[in-house]
Amino acid sequence: MLDSYEVFKQSIYNLTTIDLNSYKERQMKRRIDALITKHGINSYADYVVKLKSDKVIYDEFINYITINVSEFFRNPEQWNLLENEILPNLFKQFGKNLKIWSAACSTGDEPYSMVMLLSKFMPLDNIEIIATDIDRKVLEKANCGLYHVKSLKNVPDVFMDKYFTKITDTSYQISEKIKSCVKFKQHDLLRDPYPSNCDLIICRNVLIYFTDEAKDRIYSSFNSALNKDGILFVGSTEQIIQAAQIGFMNYRSFFYKKM
Ligand SMILES: C[S@@+](CC[C@H](N)C(=O)[O-])C[C@H]1O[C@@H](n2cnc3c(N)ncnc32)[C@H](O)[C@@H]1O
Repeated sequence: MLDSYEVFKQSIYNLTTIDLNSYKERQMKRRIDALITKHGINSYADYVVKLKSDKVIYDEFINYITINVSEFFRNPEQWNLLENEILPNLFKQFGKNLKIWSAACSTGDEPYSMVMLLSKFMPLDNIEIIATDIDRKVLEKANCGLYHVKSLKNVPDVFMDKYFTKITDTSYQISEKIKSCVKFKQHDLLRDPYPSNCDLIICRNVLIYFTDEAKDRIYSSFNSALNKDGILFVGSTEQIIQAAQIGFMNYRSFFYKKM
């Protein structure tokens, strides 16, 4: 680009309140430059003008920088561990009425997977999950509940039969019964207040995009948001390096317990 990325970051903050300083810079800048170039624009300033005047370009930008790939039961072995070990222990400790938060939930695949898993232990009427993301568009998709088969490949047959309706050869609609168990809300992990007294927080495949400083801040906030002995479930590449310093113990791979 012909002009300064520093100035661009400030313009984006003013326009969207998204703080690009907290995202890994090289990776984020490369992605943004590629997007801008695709539109035949060669300066950040011209692109900002477009962002301000064109809603389609604006939505495309937010969607692109937030990287919202997701799928149901992503990394199934971790969900098996959740079902067979983590949840039964949480039930023993806190009872069945757990407070669960799916943070950076994208299109809802993750909180809906969680509801289906919990349905093995209790009636749907007793299940409520908080699910949040910074991107309004993905939350609209989550509320709509229409999914491409690609994101459903790990859903067990019994859940497919019970909770999905085939719409076309490649798309399925999730049932209202499952949808009604999840409360979606817009939330920025970098600036909004966190829920409190959670027993389980699921936050996967988003902190990889943040700087170490931002990660530490978010992990500490998760720690404060959990009850003692509450669990944080992270993504496959998101080991917390100095967990003990933040107040977590390594409980199982990808699961941390608040000390
Ligand atoms: C790759 S998706 C992960 C979705 C899901 N957790 C999973 O593992 O399948 C990353 C999500 O993080 C969200 N995100 C990015 N920055 C965020 C922020 N500052 N606060 C909250 N969510 C954010 C994006 O909008 C996107 O939906």
